[in-house]
Amino acid sequence: MANNDVCSHKMAGFFDSKIRKIFQNPEKIVGPYIDKGMKVLDLGCGPGFFTIAMAKLVGSNGEVVGADLQKEMLSKVKSKIQGTDLEDIIQLHNTKKDSIGLSKKFDFILVFYMLHEVPNQNKTLKELYDLLNDQGKILIVEPKGHVSKKDFEKSIELMKQYFNVFIGSKVFYSHSVILEKKEFS
Ligand SMILES: C[S@@+](CC[C@H](N)C(=O)[O-])C[C@H]1O[C@@H](n2cnc3c(N)ncnc32)[C@H](O)[C@@H]1O
Repeated sequence: MANNDVCSHKMAGFFDSKIRKIFQNPEKIVGPYIDKGMKVLDLGCGPGFFTIAMAKLVGSNGEVVGADLQKEMLSKVKSKIQGTDLEDIIQLHNTKKDSIGLSKKFDFILVFYMLHEVPNQNKTLKELYDLLNDQGKILIVEPKGHVSKKDFEKSIELMKQYFNVFIGSKVFYSHSVILEKKEFS
C-alpha cells in the first residue's frame, strides 16, 4: 500500500490555490453527485477547497461536515467561513487517526487525496459504509503521484467488500471511483 504519512497543514496553501481550480474545478468534480438539501461529508477536508464548494451546492437547507485529523486545517476552514452564510451550513469535526467518530448518515461523502493517508484503509472503508445512506454515494480520489495504479487496485479490492465500485469523475492526474453500498441480507 502507498505511504500513509499525513499531509502537513503547512501544505494547506497548495491545496487551496486559485491555480488548482483550473486543473481541479470543485464544482465540476462533485457537482454531478450533489443536490440542494443534501447532507455531505468531506472526509480529510484540509483547508476546505471542496468543503466550501459543496456547501454552496447543497444550499441553505443542506449540511456539510468538514472533518479532518488536523485542528490547524479546521481552523483554516473556520476563518474562511466566519461571518458568512456558510457558517450555518458547514460544521467542522476533528477526527482521530484511527476513527472518524461520527454517527449521523450522509447522502454524499468525498474522500479526496486522503485514503492513502489512513493507517488502516479497511477500517476506514467499513466506517464509511456505516456513515452512508442506503442510496448515497462516495467519491474517492487519489493522487497518481503518491498512489500507484497497483496500490489503487489494492484499495479497490478492499472497497469491493462493502461497495459496488464504478468509474468516478475525471480528475487531473488522479485515480477516481464512485462507491455505492452493497446490500447485505
Ligand atoms: C492531501 S490533504 C487533501 C485535503 C483536501 N481533501 C483537498 O483535496 O484539498 C489530506 C487531508 O487528509 C487529512 N487526513 C489524513 N488522515 C486523516 C484521518 N485519519 N482522518 C481525517 N483526516 C485525515 C489530512 O489532515 C489532510 O488535511
